[in-house]
Amino acid sequence: MTRIIDGKAVAEDVAATVKRETAALAMRDGMAPGLAVILVGEDPASQVYVASKSRKAKECGFHSVQHTLPADTPQADLVALVERLNADPAIHGILVQLPLPAHIDALAVIETISPDKDVDGLTYVNVGRLGAGAPQKAFVPCTPAGSMLLIERVRGRDLSGLNAVVVGRSNLVGKPVAQLLLAADATVTIAHSRTKDLPALCRTADILVAAVGRPEMIRGDWVKEGATVIDVGINRIPAPEKGEGQGGKKTRLVGDVAFAEASARAGAITPVPGGVGPMTIAMLMANTLVSACRAAGVEPPRF
Ligand code: GUN
Repeated sequence: MTRIIDGKAVAEDVAATVKRETAALAMRDGMAPGLAVILVGEDPASQVYVASKSRKAKECGFHSVQHTLPADTPQADLVALVERLNADPAIHGILVQLPLPAHIDALAVIETISPDKDVDGLTYVNVGRLGAGAPQKAFVPCTPAGSMLLIERVRGRDLSGLNAVVVGRSNLVGKPVAQLLLAADATVTIAHSRTKDLPALCRTADILVAAVGRPEMIRGDWVKEGATVIDVGINRIPAPEKGEGQGGKKTRLVGDVAFAEASARAGAITPVPGGVGPMTIAMLMANTLVSACRAAGVEPPRF
């Protein structure tokens, strides 16, 4: 029987721990974790993501602030805002939603975030800590951290002797997922658009992570019998079978993996939606709580 990995349930588990520890922090230390989310411009997908991050932060009992800036905000103004938040003791986590408008150098902005408040794990300091095999000291990017938690639920924390293939090499997902798998002692291969015979490589994977952003690219016969398949893709495609909706054609969400085919062979697989997606926000809350614990000098919980 193929196990469908319930990301929503695991995310709720993580959120429950965050809420409990946040309440303890308030009782014991009289403080609340503070999360600042910055959105520049009006990208509709980013608006949805940012609103749900702010909402979840409030649900967890955090001090939650959202800064929404116009699309033509000068880079210097954005940098000045980040610097103000760096200096604000009520803020423990700063997230600048990506992508930023084209006139802004995203890397330069990210580098102004204090590594101690970089709950997105994107600064060079946190990338370096993870790359040096010290994920417990780093802030790990939320989607990779969430993917790894799902893998642990199926395979445990020790991945010795297992082959992992990560399809995709982005800074946000592919590279950090590969580092986490390596830190758990898996044998890791990173595949990308220039990889030769990708289907054959995928068939060697005991753990297959898809993070390419191409709808249903990974077919069922690329999946090894019994593999753990983690689908990070969230792609919106036309759904003519649903008919016409109000204001246009209907769409549906699919991952980077052809789910029906792949689940016939996988041992465990994440659905889209309801797999990795809910984990991302949960791990942002977890990272912000950890940051607040560090600021208060108390031992953070382990997720
Ligand atoms: N845009 C899409 N995913 C993310 C993420 O994890 N962090 C940030 N900052 N922006 C994103």
